[in-house]
Amino acid sequence: MNTPVEGFSKLTKAEKINWIASNFTQDPERTKQLLQQYWNTDGEVQKVHDEFIENTVSNYYLPFAIAPNFLINGKFYAIPMAIEESSVVAAASKAAKFWLTRGGFKTTVIGTEKVGQVHFIFKGEATKLRAFFNEIKPEFYTSTAAITKSMEKRGGGIKDIVLKDLTDKIEGYYQLHCTFETKDAMGANFINSCLEQFASTLKEKAAQHTSFTSEEKDIEVVMSILSNYVPNCLVRAEVSCPVEALNEDGISSEEFAQKMVRAVEIAKAEPYRAVTHNKGIMNGIDAVILATGNDFRAIEAGVHAYASKDGRYSSLTHATIKDGDFKFWIEIPLALGTVGGLTSLHPLVKLALEILQNPSAEELMQIVAVAGLAQNFAAVRSLVTTGIQKGHMKMHLLNLLNQMGATESEKQELVQYFKTHTVTNASVKEALEKMQSE
Ligand code: MEV
Repeated sequence: MNTPVEGFSKLTKAEKINWIASNFTQDPERTKQLLQQYWNTDGEVQKVHDEFIENTVSNYYLPFAIAPNFLINGKFYAIPMAIEESSVVAAASKAAKFWLTRGGFKTTVIGTEKVGQVHFIFKGEATKLRAFFNEIKPEFYTSTAAITKSMEKRGGGIKDIVLKDLTDKIEGYYQLHCTFETKDAMGANFINSCLEQFASTLKEKAAQHTSFTSEEKDIEVVMSILSNYVPNCLVRAEVSCPVEALNEDGISSEEFAQKMVRAVEIAKAEPYRAVTHNKGIMNGIDAVILATGNDFRAIEAGVHAYASKDGRYSSLTHATIKDGDFKFWIEIPLALGTVGGLTSLHPLVKLALEILQNPSAEELMQIVAVAGLAQNFAAVRSLVTTGIQKGHMKMHLLNLLNQMGATESEKQELVQYFKTHTVTNASVKEALEKMQSE
């Protein structure tokens, strides 16, 4: 019981399931049943899932939903979202509808530059290293020609390779700081392959460099890896309208606009609020990133680093009232792909991209930024008016009823009842118990 296992990866799927079920769960038969219940009945589809990662024993489902009515640069989109949190899709849809009649979302891609670095230690004179680097720089391009050929055909490739002296941080520490254009690919494999080749070329050429001492010839490459911080792979999404067109229920348009701006100012000024404010943005962003098969960990890491770019963690959205217009916008780094990776393998990812009319990576950046902006608008709008709990608990009602074991007919009746009553854990429990006792 609970002892280490040798060669787990070599066991068959059934053996893996048996092992985990009998060693780590209370009811092995129930565990096996559950894991099987989540298998896809289509063997081909299941095989695809099994082969995404190692040691697959089942699938882990998330709801796949659609937020319709997004008008982006005059074009309509229905945005697919994969997320478990209630209210997020409803909030996105509500914001889309709100801006539909106020000119929709306007977006611009500011840059598409990706980054990768070779980190190395050089024990010698910085000026000699720089002269050596300038001399061998063309070799970095020629030695990666086989890797870059097809990317160049698609209009991408290596943009630049810069030698950075970071010896003020760590003794002997330098970098090849490299920038890339990867077009519709997220480009991780392309970038990492180029970087590993740069590292080999660097070491090899240094070892042959006649004006280096033997210590200088022995460059220590520590690692070669892309960076998920991509401040020049940047997109902006914006909404604006005359303040009087905001027409919010129960509050004057001026007061609503001012409260929105004030809420953003608070998120700019204060990190505790900024983190939650940005979390709301990521509710929208991650859901589209997941649905379209992109790497949400990479996006999260890069976006939050960008939120701290001025030395303090701050809001990713901005709001102003100027000349009678309310303007609300987001500027975020998003390194996305619409080819390669999961995009051609996962059936639902393919469908999500089809629903988005098979966007280019640049178009997807714009759609994702809009999803983040819409989500933030909806969250802050609720926060500065009704508070979020009213709407959220309504959306959460079915989760509560399911947790409490309500039947279908009880759920139907109680959903009606709570249209005019406040949803809380206690009120739902009480209403269900009352119904059951009747
Ligand atoms: C909840 O998932 C997200 C919010 O907390 C975001 C916010 O506070 O702006 C509602």
